[in-house]
Amino acid sequence: ISLKKAFQDKFYIGTTMNLEQIHGTDQKSIDIIKKQFSSIVAENCMKSMYLQPQEGKFFFDDADKFVEFGEKNEMFIIGHTLIWHSQVPDWFFVDKNGKNVSPEVLKQRMKNHITTIVSRYKGRVKGWDVVNEAIMEDGSYRKSKFYEILGEEFIPLAFKYAQEADPEAELYYNDYNEWYPEKVKTVTQIVQNLKSKGIRIDGVGMQAHVGMDSPSINEYEEAIVAYSESGVKVNITELDISALPSPWGTSANIADKVEYDEKMNPYKKGLPADVQSKWENRYLDFFQLFLKHKKDIRRVTLWGLTDSQSWKNDFPIKGRTDYPLLFDRQYKAKPIFEKIIKLS
Ligand code: XIL
Repeated sequence: ISLKKAFQDKFYIGTTMNLEQIHGTDQKSIDIIKKQFSSIVAENCMKSMYLQPQEGKFFFDDADKFVEFGEKNEMFIIGHTLIWHSQVPDWFFVDKNGKNVSPEVLKQRMKNHITTIVSRYKGRVKGWDVVNEAIMEDGSYRKSKFYEILGEEFIPLAFKYAQEADPEAELYYNDYNEWYPEKVKTVTQIVQNLKSKGIRIDGVGMQAHVGMDSPSINEYEEAIVAYSESGVKVNITELDISALPSPWGTSANIADKVEYDEKMNPYKKGLPADVQSKWENRYLDFFQLFLKHKKDIRRVTLWGLTDSQSWKNDFPIKGRTDYPLLFDRQYKAKPIFEKIIKLS
């Protein structure tokens, strides 16, 4: 039995696709994706720096292939992501002299970006991460260019433009560490604010790039409950469980760049048995939690297929050997794979 079959009455089970997979040059991955997953999301090629590298010059080749693959294989296709402070081209925010554009110009650029992309895939991409990572762990707004120029308004605007371009598509707010209580508070306020304005929001995406110890299952559960009580579905959008020590601990003060440190890369030759079983239990705890709340959860997407493909090998420290996913470096399903299926 496959993963998608095992969970078919519960929620979609998704994975990312990178360029090798989209272009069909990594056949081993493709076979697994087709067999095991009911939903896909592009790992990078639908971010704004790739879709609109220069103003008005859209590049759709990779995204088109990705969407075709999903349609052919009857998958629930996710668009990631329309408005994000990262992997966004510089031109988005500045005029010819390099000065910040006015609010009106930025609105126009957002509208053009969102409308062009969402209408191109209308009816085919079933859900969009409309806004990604706009709120900090302490509940404040990220001081991004979108925020600097437009203030809090950029969020409802983005959802409005997306809704106008495809009224049928599901629209999501997506973020990481979305279990910090202050962050939960602001995100649920955003949900309520959109709803009170009559603007669609269907789900909150919890990225779920989690570590071995933090967050606790309790903390995570409280967030799932809070989001669903605010009237939206919960998507687990970027699940991976790093087996490596985190340089951040539970501190809300997250730096962007962390230097390589040999001590932070202890398992180059594989996970010791005790770490391995702790890691498995962590996966089981999370899936148990998702199953418990299956009525509120629309989708669980893994951020990557095999360990060698995972972004976690290079984040937050470059050049480590991490083991965050369900398939090993030989494309083989790990023991946890069957255990998760049994849970279902
Ligand atoms: C990551 C990709 O996995 C990397 O390949 C890329 O270099 C950087 O972005 N939050 C998100 C994802 O919403 O888009 C990010 O993906 C991981 C964190």
